[in-house]
Amino acid sequence: MPRYAAITGWGLAVPRRVVTNAELARQMDTSDEWIQSRTGIAQRYVASSDEPTSMLAAAAGRHALAQAGVLPAAVDTVIVATCTPDRPFPATACSVQRLLEIPRAGAFDLAAACSGFVYGLSVGSSLVQSGMSRTLLLVGADIFTHLINWQDRNTSVLFGDGAGAVVLQATEQPLGLLASNVGSWGDGETMMAVDAGGTLLPATPELLAQGRQYVYMNGREIFKHAVRGMCESSERALADAGITLDEIALVVPHQANVRIIEAVAKRLGLPMERCFVNLDRYGNTSAASVPIALSEAAQQGRIVPGDLVLLTAFGGGLTWGSAVIRWGSPTHRG
Ligand code: ACO
Repeated sequence: MPRYAAITGWGLAVPRRVVTNAELARQMDTSDEWIQSRTGIAQRYVASSDEPTSMLAAAAGRHALAQAGVLPAAVDTVIVATCTPDRPFPATACSVQRLLEIPRAGAFDLAAACSGFVYGLSVGSSLVQSGMSRTLLLVGADIFTHLINWQDRNTSVLFGDGAGAVVLQATEQPLGLLASNVGSWGDGETMMAVDAGGTLLPATPELLAQGRQYVYMNGREIFKHAVRGMCESSERALADAGITLDEIALVVPHQANVRIIEAVAKRLGLPMERCFVNLDRYGNTSAASVPIALSEAAQQGRIVPGDLVLLTAFGGGLTWGSAVIRWGSPTHRG
């Protein structure tokens, strides 16, 4: 039975349209100065109506498969982590399977908001380690702007759209996920949520008129829980992997707010040089944020084969999760 699930390919995709802070400042009472100083975000990509979640997810998946040198026919499992699926059902993962012409594979979506990719990496690696899957495509993809009220300056400036993907392949070599944990605290479910449109509150004209189909959040409380959740789960993942933070080449955190990332780094005792930040160009892309950042870090040579990398995320749910991975492809693929 394979003991590890190496990350052999990676890729990202974003919509065509860039929206700068200056453009938002022309539509609402905000400014580039406020957004940059409070969040670190300078621009974000926003999907158009002809760019559904499945399209971004498939584009990122295509890059990841090419990078891994894996043909679609070899993929036996597709997981899409998303909280903004194309439709309530079928799963967006089935659409990705169709778009990538993967002939036969188990395909399902995973909903854990901004923590979705880290959850997916834990689940996907377990499937590979159990022998149930040998080649798995894991995508984090969200069109979070679909849930945005563009009149609400408290939320609209924070988010962007995109997708990031990795290929996991079975190996005996100690690569890929070494330790991970995921958690949730449902008592905090209303700290950040979209209320209308599900079975609890089906969308009615009255609810739509009240804007209940849009995201709301308690930014200050989320901020505090995010810092605590990411720190505690990172420390646990490091302990479970039997390593210290000094051995980590790069931390790739969920990209929600640069001040959250700085607070996490400070509390962990991590120099910011070993912390990857790209939210200035993407904003918070929810489940796509960690795989987009991981892909960029690899493209830029910030991580090289053999490096230990710590991923950590936090999101609505409330959910959180962290993972220690060893970067690199097997020398002989089985
Ligand atoms: N432009 C200008 N002013 C604004 C804007 C804006 N876009 N948004 C809010 N303000 C105002 C507020 O109305 C408030 O004004 P007031 O003092 O007159 O009431 C003032 O700015 C300060 O608001 P605060 O809430 O204190 O600002 P804070 O420094 O906490 O930053 C922020 C707000 C950016 C939302 C921060 O709390 C945050 O990032 N929280 C985390 C939320 C998050 O990232 N959620 C994503 C999902 S979960 C996750 O991914 C981790």
